Amino acid sequence: MILGIETSCDETAAALVTDDGEILANVVASQAELHARFGGVVPEVASRRHLELVVPVVREALGEARVSLRDVESVAVTTRPGLIGALLVGVSAAKALAWSHRLPLVPVNHLHGHVASLYLRPLDLQPPFTCLLASGGHTLLLEVTDRSGYRILGTTLDDAAGEAFDKGARLLGLGYPGGAELDALARHGDPEAFAFPVARVDGLDFSFSGVKTALLYTVRDLGPGELEARRADLAASYQRALVTALVDRVRSTGAERVAVVGGVAANSELRAALPEAALAPLPLCTDNAAMVASAARFTRAVPYPDYLSVDAQASA
Ligand code: KG4
Ligand code: ZN
Repeated sequence: MILGIETSCDETAAALVTDDGEILANVVASQAELHARFGGVVPEVASRRHLELVVPVVREALGEARVSLRDVESVAVTTRPGLIGALLVGVSAAKALAWSHRLPLVPVNHLHGHVASLYLRPLDLQPPFTCLLASGGHTLLLEVTDRSGYRILGTTLDDAAGEAFDKGARLLGLGYPGGAELDALARHGDPEAFAFPVARVDGLDFSFSGVKTALLYTVRDLGPGELEARRADLAASYQRALVTALVDRVRSTGAERVAVVGGVAANSELRAALPEAALAPLPLCTDNAAMVASAARFTRAVPYPDYLSVDAQASA
């Protein structure tokens, strides 16, 4: 049994997962509300909140799985990429827990974690497949040939897809993070009301800054009165442009087996647009620790007591 810990951004999460990928507990404490009034994650605020939450969240996961630390065989933790102070809290907690029970520690790459959300039961997806990873911090097209990693085919040249959703939501007066709210609002609007540009860049990369600027100018030109009346149409049209960009890119690879992971994989229009794709289950799209424990199943563990030098790292 693996204890997973995730603190790379603004979710404090702990999970218990068996060696064959069954989730016994998956606890996520979101700090979104805490950061909402700042319109984005404040790194120092996130670190301090992780510090308060990490032990209670691990305790809650153990309780939910009805196990104790004595039943745990390894501790997995996100060591990169992410906010350095936030990562440090999880890494320190994981080291302390592993050390106190003489367990091995498994350093996990958060992006590998998102892909490994597909390896949990009941989905238990087998490579090979082409994977779209779309989150608040990353937009990647990956070739996955085995469960221990991936090869990067394309990435965003500017904003991440989730960031584009969040910035668009902000322009429309929605809360933070706004992806899910924009998704909900878009259901009441006409996706063809406004023609927002879909960036086409060379190769398999993405670009979202143009569509964001187009929304900004449209909102400005409408003025406050009309903006209120057209918010749903704007949301639907903007979402259509983002989803089209993602789906076109995936389709352009010609891949037969496609999977989608990351926070944006929760988007209802994206899910509907790729009906044949393997989609991460909704609770496993946004950040969680079950995906971290899942990735640990395919990552080399550092034996006790060698891991005191394992460090957090901001970049991938
Ligand atoms: O994977 P994730 O939890 O965190 C990162 O690793 O970045 O992704 C969070 C992102 C946010 O930008 C959020 O707005 C977006 O996923 N998101 C959505 C939806 N639910 C979450 N975007 C579009 N539609 C949704 N339903
Ligand atoms: Zn993530």
